[in-house]
Amino acid sequence: MTLSVVVPCYNEHANVAPMVAALDSALAGLAWEVIFVDDDSPDGTHMAARALAQSDARVRCIRRIGRRGLSGAVIEGALSSSAAYVAVIDGDMQHDETRLKPMLEALAAGADLAVGSRHVAGGDSAGLGSPLRVRLSTGGIRVAQLLTGANISDPMSGFFMLRRALFEQLTGRLTGQGFKILLDLVLASPKPLNIVEIPYKFRPRQAGESKLDALVLAQFAGLLLDKILRGTVPLRFIAFALVGAFGVVVNLLVMQLARRAGWDFTSAQSIGTLIAMIANFQLNNHLTYRAQRLRKARAWRGLALFLAVCSLGAIANIGIAKALYIENGSGLLAGAAGAAVGVVWNYAVSATLVWRVK
Ligand code: GDD
Ligand code: MN
Repeated sequence: MTLSVVVPCYNEHANVAPMVAALDSALAGLAWEVIFVDDDSPDGTHMAARALAQSDARVRCIRRIGRRGLSGAVIEGALSSSAAYVAVIDGDMQHDETRLKPMLEALAAGADLAVGSRHVAGGDSAGLGSPLRVRLSTGGIRVAQLLTGANISDPMSGFFMLRRALFEQLTGRLTGQGFKILLDLVLASPKPLNIVEIPYKFRPRQAGESKLDALVLAQFAGLLLDKILRGTVPLRFIAFALVGAFGVVVNLLVMQLARRAGWDFTSAQSIGTLIAMIANFQLNNHLTYRAQRLRKARAWRGLALFLAVCSLGAIANIGIAKALYIENGSGLLAGAAGAAVGVVWNYAVSATLVWRVK
């Protein structure tokens, strides 16, 4: 086996057969396989892949249940390969599969990494569609280049190839979060990689729709932040603390509203706290723990647990603040220390108990 082509897919049912056909003609003469990694898409993408795999041994499918994420899917697909080379290509036909052979040639000639680029001579990003997407893309590229010093024209590309052995070497150092697996790989390498850029024309999408949304962009910001902090503070903790800070605002707002409606202070503060905790649970469930999101009955159980955990956190917070206040007399310092203990407790306990992060 020379080449494994890893294809992350989410709701790409209609694109599976065209992808296999396109690879079949682009990779003629090579020993290749394609690995569709589907996160249990509701449109049954895995069934489309398995249907082809039944009669074509070059087609494989990994169906992941209870997990979401482009980078994670790519990592899992690449680790299931035994080929000499691994390529990653989007499953929506937006990348140009005829560029795979030139990528392979570049690697055979000594490059560590071949990257499909829309921003070198001969490349084109017309397929991005809206002007907003174009601006987001160029902006993101600038930020990535500035902050990381990564010297490639298209660090956001999801289209690239490298030796499987190199991928495996770098895997343990990847954050594995979000959309930007290429940037993640480049930044994970302890020594600079010899990168060759292969121009390609980004095609418009034919079927299905893009999964890039505000949360994906937030994850991208997180990836960059993680690199700046060099992994000293867990990203999840930062997200959790930001959500907590937002919760304080919600708490105060609701409390004020209830006071205006004539509630006494204790009742107003209690309803404010309760609503803030529910809002925080929702935000954490969608943002901080997006990859482990609790749904339906498990979400209700999670909410109940979260309320219990945060209530204990609040008791610890108030107890510690009170003790420090009596000792030092500085309300601000005592309050900050109490809040810090509270947020660390809430984070550590809810991660294991509510979202069961391993
Ligand atoms: N398994 C899995 N899980 N696959 C996913 C997930 C997920 O959570 N999210 C997206 N995918 C798959 C899609 O099905 C598609 O095959 C591929 O990843 C890219 O996703 P799109 O939703 O098509 O993204 P895009 O076209 O907006 O973004 C592409 O272009 C960007 C550059 O503008 C991607 O290639 C990005 O990586 C690239 O940065
Ligand atoms: Mn796409």
